[in-house]
Amino acid sequence: MTACTLLAPAKINFYLEIVGDRPDGFHELVMIMQTVALADRIDLRLTPTPGITLHCDHPEVPTDASNLAHRAAALMHQEFQALGEGGVEITIHKHIPVGAGLAGGSTDGAAVIRGLDHLAGLNLPVATLENLCGRLGSDMPFCIQGGAALATGRGEVLTPMAVPQGNPLSLVLAKYRSLSVSTPWAYGTYRQQFHDRYLSPGPQWVDRHQAITASPLALALHQGDAAAIGQNLHNDLEKVVLPVHESVAQLRQAFAQCPSVLGTMMSGSGPTVFALCGSPESAATVAQEVQASLNNPDLEVWVTQTQPHGVALL
Ligand code: C5P
Repeated sequence: MTACTLLAPAKINFYLEIVGDRPDGFHELVMIMQTVALADRIDLRLTPTPGITLHCDHPEVPTDASNLAHRAAALMHQEFQALGEGGVEITIHKHIPVGAGLAGGSTDGAAVIRGLDHLAGLNLPVATLENLCGRLGSDMPFCIQGGAALATGRGEVLTPMAVPQGNPLSLVLAKYRSLSVSTPWAYGTYRQQFHDRYLSPGPQWVDRHQAITASPLALALHQGDAAAIGQNLHNDLEKVVLPVHESVAQLRQAFAQCPSVLGTMMSGSGPTVFALCGSPESAATVAQEVQASLNNPDLEVWVTQTQPHGVALL
């Protein structure tokens, strides 16, 4: 087999807490991550000539070696000679907004790791795929298995969460097309403003991990209680992004004012804001209400739902 197609879904954060500073320069986090159905499509084609070529239909996505999909292919070849004597052509059909806090670049990278594992017939264990992903980006390991997971460390230490199947949660995502937030800026600004609150490595970190594992939010997720999930959303990065980007704060406010929204929060380092709704019909109504109340052609809105798995071969 020389070609395959994958779906690479986005994620949101139901919870994101910045716990402290790690010796490696990253932040120690406690997150609850959730895959959503909104996904990019990735075509991979092995080529007889060496080299990695990347195409993308979105003008803001780099197609050089800075793209995580490109770096993922290089890593798979470096570690496992996944390209043999030849190369690979990667085509990204972009549906996830860029610079959005939805792990769009990370999931494309994870899909390339998964797809080249398949095309090269390697059949690497999930733990190895996640480990390879962790060498390229903090959110990438989650994208392999996806679903709902508690993520600690840099975000790469994953504990899958059992959630009821067959009853996805309905969501609306919204983002201003022309606005992106730099993840290093968001974390760097948070460090400047809140460093005095950071916990020291050791037992205090473990306490935070355990507290979230047993939190009302985790319980609500296990029970599939959408209303209780909506009441317990949290994202520390809102403290630095919302004051600087008033439009994001207004978007969040607009969602909060819709009577049928169960909860609303910025995802990751933003600027995407999501709203949790009780049904697909309610989500469709909320999407219309928010578009009507803000009436801004720069605002993009998606109706989607939670999904129990990450990157997948089609
Ligand atoms: O791992 P990734 O490249 O996605 O991280 C982007 C940036 O986000 C890092 O360079 C760092 O500034 C910040 N970050 C962090 N702590 C984490 C994850 C990301 O400080 N756990």
